Amino acid sequence: TLADVDLLTSGEKVPADKQPLDAGFIMLPTNLLEEQKSQGEQSLLGQIKAVAKGLQPMIDRFLVLGIGGSYMGMRALFEGLCHPYHNELSRSARGGIPRLYFAGNNIDNDETAGLLEVLQASSNNSPIENRWGMTVISKSGGTLETAVAFRLFRDALEKTYGAESKEVTELVVPITGESGKLRDLANATGYPAIFPIPDGVGGRFSVFTAVGLFPAAVMGVDIDALLQGAADMTERFRTAPIGENPVLDYTGVCHLLEKNKGLSTRILSTWGSRLEAFGLWYDQLLAESIGKEEKGALPLTVVNTRDLHSRGQQHQEGVRDKLITNVIVEEPSTAPVSVPQVGEDRDQDQLNRLQGKAMPELMDAAIKGTNKAYAEVNRPTADLVFPKLDAYALGQALQMMMLATVVEGRLIGINPYGQPGVEAYKQNMGEILYGK
Ligand code: PA5
Repeated sequence: TLADVDLLTSGEKVPADKQPLDAGFIMLPTNLLEEQKSQGEQSLLGQIKAVAKGLQPMIDRFLVLGIGGSYMGMRALFEGLCHPYHNELSRSARGGIPRLYFAGNNIDNDETAGLLEVLQASSNNSPIENRWGMTVISKSGGTLETAVAFRLFRDALEKTYGAESKEVTELVVPITGESGKLRDLANATGYPAIFPIPDGVGGRFSVFTAVGLFPAAVMGVDIDALLQGAADMTERFRTAPIGENPVLDYTGVCHLLEKNKGLSTRILSTWGSRLEAFGLWYDQLLAESIGKEEKGALPLTVVNTRDLHSRGQQHQEGVRDKLITNVIVEEPSTAPVSVPQVGEDRDQDQLNRLQGKAMPELMDAAIKGTNKAYAEVNRPTADLVFPKLDAYALGQALQMMMLATVVEGRLIGINPYGQPGVEAYKQNMGEILYGK
């Protein structure tokens, strides 16, 4: 079957002895849950949860350093599953869960300086509100953006607590491959918790390794539900027939419309803001996996209704190269917010006619109205429906998209693993910085 054999290799164009076996992501969620069942606290999940729980009461600000596959997944989990204004809430309203900041995903001076300024307030006599810690994530251990950020933020932390203090090592959790510069640094410093990124799981397929699971656990995400969603999606992919198989159905729609109708731009249209980062994660996944050998569709995430007022024009009347996949959440996570009634003398905005209508109803009308407008001019759309946005559903969706990307790689004869094209800029940058 497709599930067993084809996906465990990485593409016909790669000689068998050179194929990177990066398909370890497929059974990973299932295996992690099983290991937890048999080994309890000793399992990787048990250890991730224990270290996350230990860190929560020590800090109020948590930094996640990483880039690409070592960053986008956690951002999708944070924006999709945590309170939309999490960092603005008081510590008690956050249930003692720290604020979250991402760094190490750019080499932006102002952004880095701004974050260092915010964190400098901390000292070892500081109240909890000023205390912070971090995880540094790099599979290779040599990615410049993340490595530079780690040196900077480590330096800031060590200046506060003292480089030799035990406390400072407990505030830093490296997540990295079995070898490399970060692994060497982490071992030499003696950080008490270092989590691995398995060799057989590529960066952008690694959200269900410690890369996504550890920061998610620190942020109070139900990582068991997340993994269960992913494991169930894998099972469904392996067993369900076409027509009931979200992975194959989605891939089929995308592939056939691209091949037969030239729809080579893939718009992921998220209705609501909380799935924007999921869309950006998918943009990276698809672009870095199959954007090779002058092939591969262009992924582009939009957030509606916001972007109906920017890109909507082009989707309705621009070049006919777009397949629009709506990502729709049926049930909001919070009580519906309704339009209030005002006195007749204050109804100049004429919204009393919407009185009592809740935002989900308005959104539903926007989705239906937009799809109808596209259908009327023969512009195809597909729907991806989340009954609600929770860890289980997001786990399913992340796994679905990773599987779909690998299947699509097979369909178009592209090895979805690896990213040789990313090396060119690194090489040039290295020559400029270090000389030949
Ligand atoms: O998908 C990938 O492999 C990349 O996007 C990597 O995740 C990214 O380049 C970061 O690499 P690393 O984790 O080695 O620092």
